[in-house]
Amino acid sequence: MGGASRVEDKIAIGADHAGYKLKEEIKLFLRENGLSFEDFGTFDAKPVDYPEIAIKVATSIAHGEFSKGILICGTGIGMSIVANKVPGIYASLCHDIFTARASRAHNNANVLALGGRILAPELAKEIVKEWLETPFEGGRHSRRIQRIKAFEEKTFRKEGKKSGSLLIIDHPLIQHKLSILRDKTTGVKEFREIVSEISALMLFEVTRDLPLVEKEVETPISKAKGFVVSGKEMVLVPILRAGLGMVDGILKLIPTAKVGHIGLYRDPKTLEPVTYYCKLPSDIPERDVIILDPMLATGGSAVEAVGLVKEYKPKSIKFLCIIAAPEGVERLHKAHPDVDILTAALDERLNDHGYIVPGLGDAGDRIFGTR
Ligand code: PRP
Ligand code: URA
Repeated sequence: MGGASRVEDKIAIGADHAGYKLKEEIKLFLRENGLSFEDFGTFDAKPVDYPEIAIKVATSIAHGEFSKGILICGTGIGMSIVANKVPGIYASLCHDIFTARASRAHNNANVLALGGRILAPELAKEIVKEWLETPFEGGRHSRRIQRIKAFEEKTFRKEGKKSGSLLIIDHPLIQHKLSILRDKTTGVKEFREIVSEISALMLFEVTRDLPLVEKEVETPISKAKGFVVSGKEMVLVPILRAGLGMVDGILKLIPTAKVGHIGLYRDPKTLEPVTYYCKLPSDIPERDVIILDPMLATGGSAVEAVGLVKEYKPKSIKFLCIIAAPEGVERLHKAHPDVDILTAALDERLNDHGYIVPGLGDAGDRIFGTR
């Protein structure tokens, strides 16, 4: 350890009366190691309620003011229960070094909960050291963390939804149709129809936050309060070729949407995208854009496409795909953290050729029958 900490390494620390003494020991340890922290109390051994402290520490981390937190109560259990209620918080209760290491390497925990009545100060300091020094391993663990985040997104998004999220649209009809797409015996005609149908079904979630204005209508019985979508229609931007298969299904529901095109293919050796075409409507700054591509694999094509669309300064961008790989989600969110990803499935991984496993094979070839 040692050396001055970066701003993003700043730690939030808090304890109740049962953890107060250990908190003071850990603060000394953090200071000795040049790590900056903010103490959210409690500041003496008088009884306090642990949820108050845990909520303050956890929300400050969830709001991005701190990268990590340490919470201490008698057993650490109360603190971890409360912290884990805050979306974006992954609190691990650790009383040994192995668990501390695993909770960072595998679970990417951002809060460490400790038991002040369980741990001797020296062991507690070793646990803190191990926890702070262990990086997240990524790989297969990324997929599991993405699943937790997607669940949070689905459960909590009505309360102050943030952009840059991953939403897995797991509606039964979509999952049923996706299984037909995955099946290698499905022929071109049916494959093409189902890509179109799934895209239309997914549109309900894509457009969930469209603004509405009130409009009075007259029914055969009486006047009624109605609504119309306000503002200009969106722009669909399929990534050629396979993204083209998603356009028709969506246009059936939003026939006046404009359509831009981005031509990209993956270099089979480097797997990096090669751009060969880009034509987008000029009034994009007044519109929301949905980029369409059935497959988010390495994420190279998606990152490139979002970059091209951003040059036109749209109001917002969403990326709609049918199957995503964890590697692609990570790369796209890293390059463009403001872009929401919506997918019908988050698959396991990529194979050595950059294909999604289990995936559905080459989407372009299956839509256009070119193999
Ligand atoms: C496929 C797919 C995506 C890209 C995804 O297109 O439709 O555009 O691969 O891979 P990535 O996330 O690793 O960039 P492909 O390059 O095969 O071109 P095609 O649509 O013309 O078949
Ligand atoms: N492109 C595809 O069409 N399928 C994959 O699995 C990966 C990239």
